[in-house]
Amino acid sequence: MRSISVALLTCLVAIAVSANPVVISDNLVRLRLAKHINVTSPGHIVKADQARAAALISKALAQSSGKFTQDAVISTPAQTQAVAYVASVGVGSPATTYSLLIDTGSSNTWVGAGKAYVRTSTSVQTGDRVSVSYGSGSFSGNEFTDTVNLGTGLTITKQSIGVASSSTGFGGVDGILGIGPVILTTGTLSPDSNSTIPTVVDSLFAQGTITGHSIAISFEPTPPQPTNNGELTYGGTDSSKFTGSITFAPITSTSPASFFWGINQSIRYGSSTAILPTTAGIVDTGTTLVLIATDAFNRYKSATGAVPDNATGLLRLTTTQFSNLQSLFFTIAGTTFEFTANAQAWPRSLNTLIGGTTSNVYLIVADLGTNSGSGFDFINGMSFLERFYSVYDTANKRVGIANTPFTKAATN
Ligand SMILES: *[C@@H]1O[C@H](CO)[C@@H](O)[C@H](O)[C@H]1NC(C)=O
Ligand SMILES: *[C@@H]1O[C@H](CO)[C@@H](O)[C@H](O)[C@H]1NC(C)=O
Ligand SMILES: *[C@@H]1O[C@H](CO)[C@@H](O)[C@H](O)[C@H]1NC(C)=O
Ligand SMILES: *[C@@H]1O[C@H](CO)[C@@H](O)[C@H](O)[C@H]1NC(C)=O
Repeated sequence: MRSISVALLTCLVAIAVSANPVVISDNLVRLRLAKHINVTSPGHIVKADQARAAALISKALAQSSGKFTQDAVISTPAQTQAVAYVASVGVGSPATTYSLLIDTGSSNTWVGAGKAYVRTSTSVQTGDRVSVSYGSGSFSGNEFTDTVNLGTGLTITKQSIGVASSSTGFGGVDGILGIGPVILTTGTLSPDSNSTIPTVVDSLFAQGTITGHSIAISFEPTPPQPTNNGELTYGGTDSSKFTGSITFAPITSTSPASFFWGINQSIRYGSSTAILPTTAGIVDTGTTLVLIATDAFNRYKSATGAVPDNATGLLRLTTTQFSNLQSLFFTIAGTTFEFTANAQAWPRSLNTLIGGTTSNVYLIVADLGTNSGSGFDFINGMSFLERFYSVYDTANKRVGIANTPFTKAATN
């Protein structure tokens, strides 16, 4: 088993924030994130991502048919999360601190996978059972309300949280901080299966702790000597983390991507090779790679000349092929974002960690596992989000994407 835990902390210096043209907030609160990589078997990352994609699609389809119960069974075997960004979150008073995975693709917040839940005077059991399946695992347990602390000045009272009595697939973390759309909590409680559970972001906004009903996320590529990190900003955007302006795309109307932070996007390789025509998919912190529909993946494979690598499960290039690798271009709401050759490579310093060798280059673009046209044709996962700033704007039902100082960095 290979494992690495990279605790990457930013300094929380408040940079004089220039007014952002679109999302304005003078009440930004930042949560530091740390990246964990725990790959336990050949092909683990791809299998975990594909299992997650299948679980997300199945869950959304069940919800769209009004049949949002746990019988939305996922046939793919659960795959332990391979790569995760985690935050330290306090629950209770006095607070116990838990390491929670940041997940924009689910919306329940829960603890108890690793460290057990510690009840204090602020803990109140609601009487509902709760359960969620993720593809990268599942949990079930009881719902409580409790005080949740997300960082200095960010305390929520009576936040509804799950407390796991059993969970699978969450080695190394204590649970999830679910920051997807609230609709994804529908059907997770019983007997109140028709109720939604306000997310932590909904509660912060409802309690007046943040003045904008949105969050923004900055991840940075893994450098050889990790010194950078991720940062989650509640209530607005942090202009020190992106360059230029933010492009906002309305949440796609295409189901099932519409249940998530879903957008329309097209992808091109180099100057003119179409990989994916404009279609719906999602932006997701809980997915490690960039997953594209099988037909698009096959076009990418032929365009790059890459071959499947059994040990890592990823596409593989020689260093000579890599020197000829063109950029991918993602067009979102009329703006084209360049995803460089370096951005398409798994961090070379971490090749051996995933079963690869140092003399090859492994690509982070992988097969979603289903053909395009399903209404869920791509996932812009963490490898994408490490190159772009992202904004999850509940108030205006849209997703924002911007370039960062790392978009074209040679890191990797
Ligand atoms: C890695 O994952 C395995 C399998 O889930 C788990 O048992 C182990 O605790 C994890 N290790 C770390 C360091 O997270
Ligand atoms: C949930 O809502 C549906 C449709 O409104 C209704 O038929 C069903 O009885 C409700 N279930 C519960 C448990 O309240
Ligand atoms: C996204 O694409 C679909 C299908 O082409 C289209 O109907 C829709 O208007 C587009 N835009 C949004 C915001 O959904
Ligand atoms: C990779 O796996 C495939 C399918 O399991 C097999 O046919 C092929 O021989 C393997 N290639 C190598 C180089 O191990």
